[in-house]
Amino acid sequence: MSDLLERLRAGLPPEALITDPDVTASYAHDMASFCEAGTPAVVVLPRTVEQVQHVMRTATALRVPVVPQGARTGLSGAANASDGCVVLSLVRMDRILEISPVDRIAVVEPGVVNAVLSRAVNEHGLYYPPDPSSWETCTIGGNIGTASGGLCCVKYGVTAEYVLGLEVVLADGRLLTTGRRTAKGVAGYDLTRLFVGSEGSLGIIVKAVLALKPRPPQQLVLAAEFPSAATACDAVCRIMERGHTPSLLELMDRTTVRAVNAMASMGLPETTEALLLCAFDTPDPVADLTAVGELCTAAGATEVVPADNPAESELLLQARRMSLTALETVKSATMIDDVCVPRSQLGAMLAGTAAIAEEYGLTIGVCAHAGDGNTHPVVCFDHHDPDESRRARESFDAIMALGLELGGTITGEHGVGVLKKEWLARELGETGVELQRSIKAAFDPLGLLNPGKLF
Ligand code: LAC
Ligand code: ZN
Repeated sequence: MSDLLERLRAGLPPEALITDPDVTASYAHDMASFCEAGTPAVVVLPRTVEQVQHVMRTATALRVPVVPQGARTGLSGAANASDGCVVLSLVRMDRILEISPVDRIAVVEPGVVNAVLSRAVNEHGLYYPPDPSSWETCTIGGNIGTASGGLCCVKYGVTAEYVLGLEVVLADGRLLTTGRRTAKGVAGYDLTRLFVGSEGSLGIIVKAVLALKPRPPQQLVLAAEFPSAATACDAVCRIMERGHTPSLLELMDRTTVRAVNAMASMGLPETTEALLLCAFDTPDPVADLTAVGELCTAAGATEVVPADNPAESELLLQARRMSLTALETVKSATMIDDVCVPRSQLGAMLAGTAAIAEEYGLTIGVCAHAGDGNTHPVVCFDHHDPDESRRARESFDAIMALGLELGGTITGEHGVGVLKKEWLARELGETGVELQRSIKAAFDPLGLLNPGKLF
């Protein structure tokens, strides 16, 4: 242990190392509940690529595990420490190195906060779309590590679609450059894409080239109330079937709406069974919202209310973004699922989730990126009650089994981490896991990078 600290100190400024156990303990886990976390030996906060290389060379020499971290807003335990590890926090590498309106790219360090980048590119008339609900605090490095999504994915796609190239420090300290800063490029295997969603298990991302879009007009949101989840899901299918391209298509069930109102007095309609939020950032959002409003009514909406202006629209989005936090106040604990199904199966997924809630005698609130078929069933339970806790875990698993049955995936955007390790094999199959393990071994033969995650 002292050998580790001594060697780390040799290549790092004193302020880059934290050893006080009270402080290092606060770096032990991300925001996922019920995921094991160990005690880190030390937290390192480098500012340069060379410092990261020094950390990895040291870790390899001494065979010490390394757990890379961004802002720890993750929801699968992928950033949780293991015993005796070096926590490698990238939050101080937070410079935006370049924004190019001609190439439509930004080059950033991993610790740049998502919202900071969004605002910076906005000033150049550009747009970085991926927008997880935690966008005000989460980092780009974390977004890439977990392949995060967000509200705007229904139109603009997920993080993977915006990562053009990377610089990565490998387990042994070598620096790898992947990908490109060009509009096109097909040279060799797509290692860039491989790193997206690799949850810190293949290397330490120290720089990213990100694609940008021209800034779209401000979006306008419509809220539609439905008497059932089934009618709301029918509306989602009609909207997509008609060829509309909403910039957002979100669903909040009654439990979620009530929880948000209770937390922040948002004035959302409490009696509705399902609230659908649909937005357009097109040249004529009013016309698009009118057309969608008609489709909602035809599907059975009892009320269709377009926002009058962008400020009102933003309020509705804020209500949606706080859904998870609000659901966390329903009971003493929550488990958040992230099952994504083909959107044609969204109705079946929500009906099945309601049946699971009934069967296990639990409250399961659902908010969903409905346009993507990506649901977040949130199991609310009292963690002091052993029987309720057991039922919570079983229902959480039943939801994933249902998702797979419906042709979906166990995780649309939160990742596997510790939380869904046992489920990854079920989704990938034996051959899939075998190949993924070989890939891991090619990058990290000693198994030092974020051990105990994914597999
Ligand atoms: C959201 C997070 C939980 O959709 O993914 O709010
Ligand atoms: Zn989400």
